[in-house]
Amino acid sequence: MTVDTKAIKQAIFSPSMITMLLLGLIIGVVGFGVVFRPTSPLEAGSQFQRPYPMPHQYWATTDEFYVFASGGQQGGLYVYGIPSMKYLSEIPIFATDQAWGWTPENQEVKSIFTNPWTGEVVERGDTHHPSMSRTDGAYDGRWVFVNDKMYGRVARVGLDTFRTEQVLWTPNTTGGAHGFTVGPNSELAVLNIEHEQAPDAVIQEHLGITVDPINGPYVAGFNGIVIDGLPGGDGTMKVGWQVWGPWQHDMARLGWGVSDGWLVNTSYNTERATSSVPMFERESDYLYFWNIASIEQAIADGKYVTTEQAPDVPVISWKDVEVYMTEIPLNPHGLDISPTGKYILTSGKATTLIVAIDFDKVKEAIANKDFQDEEFGVPILTTDSIREATMDLGLGPTHIEFDNNGYAYIGFFVDSDAKKIALGGPYTELHGKEPWKVIDVLPAHYSIGHILVPGGDSAQPYGKYFIAMNKLAKDTFLPHGPLVTENHELYSIDNIPGLLVDQMALGPETHYSQAIPVSMITPNVRGVYTRPAVTEPPRVEYDYENRVVEVYMDVVRSWFTPDMFTVPQGWTVHMHLTSQEQALDITHGLAIDGYDVVASLDPGEVKDLIFVADKPGVHWYYCIWFCSELHMEMRGRMIVIPEAEWLPEMEWQAP
Ligand code: CUA
Repeated sequence: MTVDTKAIKQAIFSPSMITMLLLGLIIGVVGFGVVFRPTSPLEAGSQFQRPYPMPHQYWATTDEFYVFASGGQQGGLYVYGIPSMKYLSEIPIFATDQAWGWTPENQEVKSIFTNPWTGEVVERGDTHHPSMSRTDGAYDGRWVFVNDKMYGRVARVGLDTFRTEQVLWTPNTTGGAHGFTVGPNSELAVLNIEHEQAPDAVIQEHLGITVDPINGPYVAGFNGIVIDGLPGGDGTMKVGWQVWGPWQHDMARLGWGVSDGWLVNTSYNTERATSSVPMFERESDYLYFWNIASIEQAIADGKYVTTEQAPDVPVISWKDVEVYMTEIPLNPHGLDISPTGKYILTSGKATTLIVAIDFDKVKEAIANKDFQDEEFGVPILTTDSIREATMDLGLGPTHIEFDNNGYAYIGFFVDSDAKKIALGGPYTELHGKEPWKVIDVLPAHYSIGHILVPGGDSAQPYGKYFIAMNKLAKDTFLPHGPLVTENHELYSIDNIPGLLVDQMALGPETHYSQAIPVSMITPNVRGVYTRPAVTEPPRVEYDYENRVVEVYMDVVRSWFTPDMFTVPQGWTVHMHLTSQEQALDITHGLAIDGYDVVASLDPGEVKDLIFVADKPGVHWYYCIWFCSELHMEMRGRMIVIPEAEWLPEMEWQAP
C-alpha cells in the first residue's frame, strides 16, 4: 500500500521536470494524455442505433430512467432521461432561479431561504449529493433528498411534483457540509461536516477540546437528520442530533443488511491540517464505523449539551458513543456499500488503491476487540482482520457504484476511465469471475468525477447503464469560450465490454446524480394542483396604518383580475395570486416592468408575493410563460403614485 502513495507523493514534492509532468497528469490538465476516444453512438452494429429523424414521442416511450443530477453551484437539480440523454427539466432548490419564480419576494421561497436561527435570507447554495428515499434499502419513488454544501442544508423534493418541499438548516456550524446519505427506510439521514469548525464554547467544553480560532486545531462531526419517512410519513425532516469529534468527515453511508444500524464515513484530513498539502502528509487516513444505537443511547442517558442557537438539538461527544475506525488509503473519497450491505469499498484519491472491507468481519473484530491501535480514544480495528481486498487499479480512484450482477464500478479522475471489477464472497455466484479483479475498462472523455449506475447505491441496483460525470471535457464539444461544458457519458453495461452509447452536455456543475425507473415516478406525477374550493374574490385593499396594499388576484388564460391597481410610493404590496387553471402544462407567471419581482404559478397554485413599491410610475405586470395565443395581452398595470400626491380617491376598487 505504501509503495504507490510514496511514489506519488515523491513525484509531487520533488522539483524536477518529471515531477512537473507527473503532477500535470495527476491534476488532469494534460489534455493530450487521453488516448481513448468515444465510440460513435451510431457506429454500425450498435444495439442502440436509433432511427433518424427521431419519431415523435420516441423519448417519452423509450426512456427507462430519470436522472436527478445535482447542479453544484447552480444550486438545484437537473433532470434528464436515459437512454435518450435528453434534458427534461430542472428543479430550483437552494439558489434563486427566476424562470421558476424561485425568488425571495415569493413568501414560500423566502421561508425556504431563511435561516431559522438568524433570520438571514440567503439566495445561494451548492447542491451536492442527491439521495433517493428508500424502503428496505431500495428506492421507493417518493422523494429525492439533496444537500447544500455552502450553508449545510438538506432539501426534500417531491417526486410527484418535482418541486422543493422543505429545506432544513443544520445548526452550530458555518456550513461546509459534504457527505450526505439517506438510511435504508428514509427514517434517518446523515450530513457530514467537511469543513472544520470553531464551534460554540459549550461544544468545545463538552468535547474537552479548546479551539484557537486562528490556529485550530478545529473540530467537526456530522448531523443526524430524523425524517418522518417510514411508509405513510410526510417526509418532514428535523435535526435530531449532532455528533462532534476531532476530525472532519467527507463521504457518508448509512448501512443496511449486514451493515444495518451503522454509519460509515471517512475523513481525508486526519492530519487536522488547515492547508492543502499538509492534508496528505500521513500515509493513510481513516474510515469510521459509528453505531447509531449508541448515539441514541447517549441522548437517552443525557450525555449531551445544547447551544443557545439550537436548544432542541443534542450535541454529543464522540467519546460518549461507540465508534471504531480503520486505516484506509490516503485522502479517501469514494465510499460505497455493496447491495447486501456486506462490503464497504473506499478509494484513496491520492493513491492508486481501492480497498474492500467485509462488514461481517468488522462486527467480528469489534466483538473480539481485535484492535491494532487507537487515536483520540477510538480503537483502530486490525487492518488484516477486516479487509477483504486491496486493489491497485489506477490513478485517481474517486467514486464507486454497484450493479445487480455482482460488479462494482470505480471512476478514475486521472486515468479518465472507469474500471469494472468482480465482487467476491457471495457475489461470485452471480458472475463466476475471479473476485476483486478488473474485468472491463470503460474509457471516458475525460476526468471522471462521480459515476452513476441506476440504483447503484442501494440494496436493489437496476444496473444496465453507467454514466460517467466528466468534470473536464476538452475536445468534446465546440469551443465556446474558456470553459468547456460538462459532459455526461452513457454506457451500456449489460455486456462485456461495455459500450459507449451517447453523451450530453449539461450545465455547470453536476456533482453526484441518482437514477430511478420512470415507471416508479410517472404513476404518481401530479399534473395540476387542486384549486382551493373557496378562493379569495379578486380585490384591492388599502391598509393606511401599516402602509400595505393587499392585492387579491386571479390568474387564468389570458388575463389577470384585477388588471390594474394603484399604490402609494413606498408602501408594501402584498399580492395574493391564485391560478384558476386546472389544465396540464398551463403554468402562468408574473413579472413587473422595472421591478425585481417574478412569480410562476402552476395550475391551481396559490402564491404570495411581497415587495415594496419604491419606484413611481406606470409599471405593467405581465405573464412570463407562453400560455395561449393571447399570452402577450395577458398584462395589467401597477400605478405607483408619489405618496405626497396620493389622494384616497385614487384607491382602485376593481374589478
Ligand atoms: Cu399566462 Cu402567458
